[in-house]
Amino acid sequence: MGRLVFPLSILTWLVVWAALKFGVQPPIPGSVMGLYLSIVTVSILVYLVADEARFEAFLAPLISLLREQRLVVPRLLVLISLPLLLGWFTYTRVRPQFDPPFEARIIHPEPPAKFKLHGEDFDVLKAQRPPEMEVNQENLAAGRRLYFRNCMYCHGDYLDGKGRFAEAVNPLPANFRDGGTISQLEEGYVYWRIATGGRGLPDGATPWNSSMPVWQDFFTDEEIWQVVAFIYAASGSTPRTWEGH
Ligand code: HEC
Repeated sequence: MGRLVFPLSILTWLVVWAALKFGVQPPIPGSVMGLYLSIVTVSILVYLVADEARFEAFLAPLISLLREQRLVVPRLLVLISLPLLLGWFTYTRVRPQFDPPFEARIIHPEPPAKFKLHGEDFDVLKAQRPPEMEVNQENLAAGRRLYFRNCMYCHGDYLDGKGRFAEAVNPLPANFRDGGTISQLEEGYVYWRIATGGRGLPDGATPWNSSMPVWQDFFTDEEIWQVVAFIYAASGSTPRTWEGH
């Protein structure tokens, strides 16, 4: 058991890191990741020092690496590569970045003619707001409640795409105040986007890996019309319409 203490501690740390890094969607912001990893590091250290024999077993491979004659080559390799690694790490952090900035996606892919809405066919191009769902105070108030409970985290309380989670997702959440988003679109299109989310985007819209949720799994048809009405009214946009459509 003694010989396994060191590799097992390192392995535990790596498994937690990999689970946080690759197992959580949307990705965890860097600062939160740092916090979690410090907690994990401290927990492992506390576990090790809680028992003297265990702590000695943990240190043993490090001590023999530094002292033993037969380990002179690995020792030199470690002592040379550590400062180099740290230097490279620091360099990559401070190096000026020329990558294009994060962009919101404002190109609107062709919608499918139909999609399944709660199991029934919904015609995206012909969709009209149903007469009983007219844009009135009651529906706007309901849409506002739905928005602030569900959408604000990404699209922001000012509907500008700057919600709390916005920086953790790529592409960025749509900014409804931007003339390039919903004011370019008909209500039926926006309805389709909300109902089917990132998963409903056609192949032509790849490689964007949108985190926009599939809201038909949570909302009724009426609730989707209400939230559509709210995002237009609250962002000061009007849906696009076609003459005589
Ligand atoms: C987890 C974050 C997240 C949440 C929560 C979220 N969205 Fe989104 N939404 C996105 C992202 C990212 C995009 C941009 C990528 C895309 O178009 O799929 C987007 C795009 C959209 C678009 C398309 C706009 C356009 O111009 O193409 C609409 C409409 C929209 N969201 C409405 C909503 C509504 C309404 C809610 C709440 C019911 C909501 N979103 C909740 C992340 C989110």
